[in-house]
Amino acid sequence: MKNSVYITWAKYHAAARYNLANSGLLGCELRDLPVRLDEIELNGQNGEGYGPLKEAIAAKYGAEPDHVVTAPGTSMANFLACATLLERGDEVLIEQPTYEPLLSVARYLGAEVKRFARLFEQGYQPDLDELRRHLSPRTRLIVITSPHNPSGVVMEPATLARIGEMAAEVGAHVLLDEVYRDILFEDAPPSAVRLGPSFIATNSLTKSYGLGGLRCGWILCEPQLAERMRRLTDLFYGHGPMPSDKLSLIAFQHLDQLTARARTLIEPNTRLVHDFLREQADALDCVVPPRSMIVFPRLKRQTDSQPLHDLLRQSETSIVPGKFFETPAHFRLGFAVKTEDVRVGLEHLGRALRMIG
Ligand SMILES: Cc1ncc(COP(=O)(O)O)c(C=O)c1O
Repeated sequence: MKNSVYITWAKYHAAARYNLANSGLLGCELRDLPVRLDEIELNGQNGEGYGPLKEAIAAKYGAEPDHVVTAPGTSMANFLACATLLERGDEVLIEQPTYEPLLSVARYLGAEVKRFARLFEQGYQPDLDELRRHLSPRTRLIVITSPHNPSGVVMEPATLARIGEMAAEVGAHVLLDEVYRDILFEDAPPSAVRLGPSFIATNSLTKSYGLGGLRCGWILCEPQLAERMRRLTDLFYGHGPMPSDKLSLIAFQHLDQLTARARTLIEPNTRLVHDFLREQADALDCVVPPRSMIVFPRLKRQTDSQPLHDLLRQSETSIVPGKFFETPAHFRLGFAVKTEDVRVGLEHLGRALRMIG
């Protein structure tokens, strides 16, 4: 079947009163975006992406608009990058564990998927010698999430730069999904796109700003490649969604306000989660990033987190079982929802951990 096992699961099984399965920021209400109805346009010129929106995205990166491709969410941004670069039989090298749709897209496109490890024991930083061994003249793309989904760990910029050089040696590109980058606030490393022309960076207003409903995603890469991606969009939709792009532009004009909202939610929740992980040290191991909105703890005494998930459902609480990230003993914990919900969800999680022993 042509599908993403994880997205189908998330649609039907992740929602809960105490939702610790959600990896993004609590969704905005209309009042969080200062907008007047007369600022919205239903139709307008949007054949190559809405110009003012592309300018706003480019300005965020200190780039020019011809480096920008707009797309419905990071999901479509990733798809466009992969579909532009991968032909049937090409090799693609994808981190393990990773965000499952990235694997499904590569397989859907008929690429030969190879993997390089991001190990818990190495703080989820890659082993560059191992990565190099998987490269070949047929490698077209290396795929990485940073901050990493599921662990929240940021890949060291020097490591990324080295991966960019290795990719360039075999004529490949590096796709960097940076959808969790903006909640690093002042600690955010430069976007990978600043590291050189082999890099393609994707992002959206979904995870860090709680604006997933706008489906405002984008790609940054060198202009010729960006143009190839825009031509590919002609096969799918041709024109961007004008009302949504207008709202997205307004969001960009109020990014400081939206960032402040994100910080207000994330900072107290981070303290709660870090304290919880310390208290649960005999049940859980975890690589704890200084900043993130997800963590990926490992059960010390069980090999599969599915029973923990099933038990938690009885107290209206959800986590993501590690099997969706090819590491069943782990689970992903998201904590960018209401602080009170995180507090109660963690209480339920602590109780469930005691019950499973
Ligand atoms: C790494 C990663 N990329 C992309 C997405 C999808 O983002 P969007 O809502 O912008 O399509 C997610 C959502 O969980 C994600 O974790």
